[in-house]
Amino acid sequence: MNVLVVGGGGREHAIIRKLRENKTVEKLYALPGNAGMSAESECVDIAATDIEGIVSFAVSHDIGFAVVAPDDPLVLGCADALRQAGISTFGPSARAAMIEGSKVFAKELMKKYGIPTAAFEVFDDMEKALAYVESAPLPTVIKADGLALGKGVVIARTREEARNALREMMERHKFGKSGDQVVIEEFLEGPEVSVLSFTDGETLVPMVSSMDHKRALDNDEGLNTGGMGTVAPNPYYTDAVARECMERIFLPTIRAMKAEGRPFAGCLYFGLMLTKDGPRVIEYNCRFGDPETQVVLPLMESDLLSVMRAVAEGTLDKTEVRFSRKHACCVIMASRGYPAAYEKGFPLTIGEDVRERVYVAGAKWKDGVLVTNGGRVLGCTAVADTLEDAIRDAYAITGQIHFENAFFRHDIGQRALKAKEI
Ligand code: AMP
Ligand code: GLY
Repeated sequence: MNVLVVGGGGREHAIIRKLRENKTVEKLYALPGNAGMSAESECVDIAATDIEGIVSFAVSHDIGFAVVAPDDPLVLGCADALRQAGISTFGPSARAAMIEGSKVFAKELMKKYGIPTAAFEVFDDMEKALAYVESAPLPTVIKADGLALGKGVVIARTREEARNALREMMERHKFGKSGDQVVIEEFLEGPEVSVLSFTDGETLVPMVSSMDHKRALDNDEGLNTGGMGTVAPNPYYTDAVARECMERIFLPTIRAMKAEGRPFAGCLYFGLMLTKDGPRVIEYNCRFGDPETQVVLPLMESDLLSVMRAVAEGTLDKTEVRFSRKHACCVIMASRGYPAAYEKGFPLTIGEDVRERVYVAGAKWKDGVLVTNGGRVLGCTAVADTLEDAIRDAYAITGQIHFENAFFRHDIGQRALKAKEI
């Protein structure tokens, strides 16, 4: 069978490597993919948001199964369009992807169905929002309604910061239409946990939990990024917490989506905060997280293609989804300056011995040489029996990677290690 994966980052590289374990896969295409994964998939230069181009490629290349990985094509209806063309596809409909595409929708859904989340107000009028933050408790959290490349959240510690954030989003349209509406919500505290799950709309199977490291610099300093590293499992996510999340958050969410006429089938990602009053939903994503996927899929023992097909066919209840009890750590190597301005085009070498444990996010060919082509360049993932060993091994991989201006955090997993001691 020929399989197509829409997207081109480290997450897609991890999905592709896992899909290749299934021997029925003949050709594997990445649209657009990137040069760092070209040994494992045929990369075709069609943008992930070019829905028409993707569908016509799929139809003309005898694609038996498609995976749509990133948020923007999902929100634009890429999975629907592929299914309409008769191609079995893993990925939620555009109607279901609203759970990530609109924070206002997600918050209203949680309120209506009693799913625990931060208290909030919605504004489409800047003057009213400005008036509200004059008396809101500080810090206060301001979120643009729509997609904003993971940058649409501001934790305002002063009223001045809150005013500035609102003006940036609602007056200067920093995120375009995404900021026409904003959510202003209660600031919550506690450890964060990412839980990715497979769901066909009826059955939900959580994957192993993980911990992201969003800030650019050590000790959680610097700017927010797409993620500088991950570990799995997340030690704060105990069996008792997992049970509570299943009952109070995961199952109520898929039931709510079904009741709203937006059944969700695909990977539903729960961004959770474990507050002293219990777990709260910080955000939903309609897709695999990046770099969470780079620690979660290496721990998956079941066949990914079979599970994805069961999701697409609505037979997840009859499918085994198993994860190893080992630990994984992923260290992201980025180009200095990321997530602000950075340079691209530096020659990139990846030691032969570590290639199987590296997921490339941003690389391209230039005159036959592999060069960097993004802020986040690649992820180094190690799996081991203990978290300590996984961390040590992941950092050892970084020593086999070379490109000018490389930087990475040195403390990925340290918080998780400390949590384990408690
Ligand atoms: P997001 O872009 O939605 O993933 O949010 C980015 C980060 O902002 C989250 O990972 C949290 O660390 C933080 N955050 C979002 N909402 C809240 C909240 N209500 N209280 C405290 N921190 C938050
Ligand atoms: N790592 C967070 C995300 O994928 O949104």
